[in-house]
Amino acid sequence: MNKTILITGGAGFIGSHVVRLMVRNYPDYRIVNLDALTYAGNLENLKDIDSKDNYLFEKGDITDAPFINQLFKKYRFDGVIHLAAESHVDRSIADPLAFIQTNIIGTVNLLNAARDSWKDDMVGKRFYHISTDEVYGSLGETGFFIEETAYDPRSPYSSSKASSDHLVRAYHHTYNMPVVISNCSNNYGPNQFPEKLIPLSINNIKHNKPIPIYGKGENVRDWLYVEDHARAIDIIFHEGKNGETYNIGGNNEWQNIQLIKKLCEVMDQKLGRVKGTSEKLITYVTDRAGHDMRYAIDSSKLKRDLGWEPSLQFEEGIVKTVDWYLENEDWMNRIVTGEYEKYYQNQYQHR
Ligand code: NAD
Ligand code: TYD
Repeated sequence: MNKTILITGGAGFIGSHVVRLMVRNYPDYRIVNLDALTYAGNLENLKDIDSKDNYLFEKGDITDAPFINQLFKKYRFDGVIHLAAESHVDRSIADPLAFIQTNIIGTVNLLNAARDSWKDDMVGKRFYHISTDEVYGSLGETGFFIEETAYDPRSPYSSSKASSDHLVRAYHHTYNMPVVISNCSNNYGPNQFPEKLIPLSINNIKHNKPIPIYGKGENVRDWLYVEDHARAIDIIFHEGKNGETYNIGGNNEWQNIQLIKKLCEVMDQKLGRVKGTSEKLITYVTDRAGHDMRYAIDSSKLKRDLGWEPSLQFEEGIVKTVDWYLENEDWMNRIVTGEYEKYYQNQYQHR
């Protein structure tokens, strides 16, 4: 094996796609997936690659510094792709501290371990921090986030991610750490936990349950198919410049209500329902506190410098996504029993 790469959060939504891509594309790398298997982590997401020779799983928590230090001693990682995080805005509103612990303290633990492990030779090493466009705050009707947009995070989630981004940059400037950061827009696709808008809505439509739309449904998000994000991560990990930030986006803005209407149309077709049936499930509910109005990413730097652009149009991506959830009912059913029911009750009963 010519390199050992640590991927954190590899049992989650985006992480599982990144692990799969790296394991398949780089048979000469040893890929170590570190994940605490929180409610969002699911090893079922990786069952097609988990017996590969170049793949290893370590269960552990990035907030546990002694464990992280020992892991770096054990494997002598050449690179880190850091995705582990608490990732859902609504949960961050209910319990900010968990986000501070994992997203900030956890990131610092990894940075410290990498710095100590690489201190005598940083050549060829790389610490890649995966972040979000939400750190830039909220846009009005026009404009795009560029890499130089001033940070203005407005939820406990985005604030904790912004804080971790600052710390990663600080380790670059202070300790000369070879870091790179990317900030991506909303992802969609297979294996997303059904607390997020698209899989939650697919599951509710399937079971004829109300689709909860926050506020007036006018908020805008820029959606990117998850495999396109994973491909960008591969390119940036290998070809990005140390100390640089790259924005990643789908160039694909949708108002929530328009997106859900499109999803209803696809679901009607796939479920053999009369056109317009699923739309009747749309239910406007109390808005999210501090709900950011619009996110939109300008990813021209990534296209110009590293040649990446999204490969999949949304019309195609959303059909692929719906097909996957309908074909993987067992995956969804195992998740939506037990703890998920309690979460759903708490989040939605008083809206
Ligand atoms: P996810 O919630 O689906 O997965 C997170 C993973 O991290 C899970 O497997 C979980 O078990 C693991 N994890 C959580 N806390 C941990 C801890 N303390 N120690 C070890 N593992 C822990 O999240 P996701 O949507 O796949 O997001 C992955 C990363 O991408 C995050 O850093 C997120 O901020 C970023 N991101 C997500 C999106 C998006 O649309 N989902 C967009 C841009 C950036
Ligand atoms: P989400 O998938 O939680 O991603 P993020 O908050 O990180 O953008 O939400 C996407 C959009 O959908 C966001 O504007 C909030 C909205 N939303 C709803 O209207 N209803 C819901 O039940 C959820 C989970 C989200």
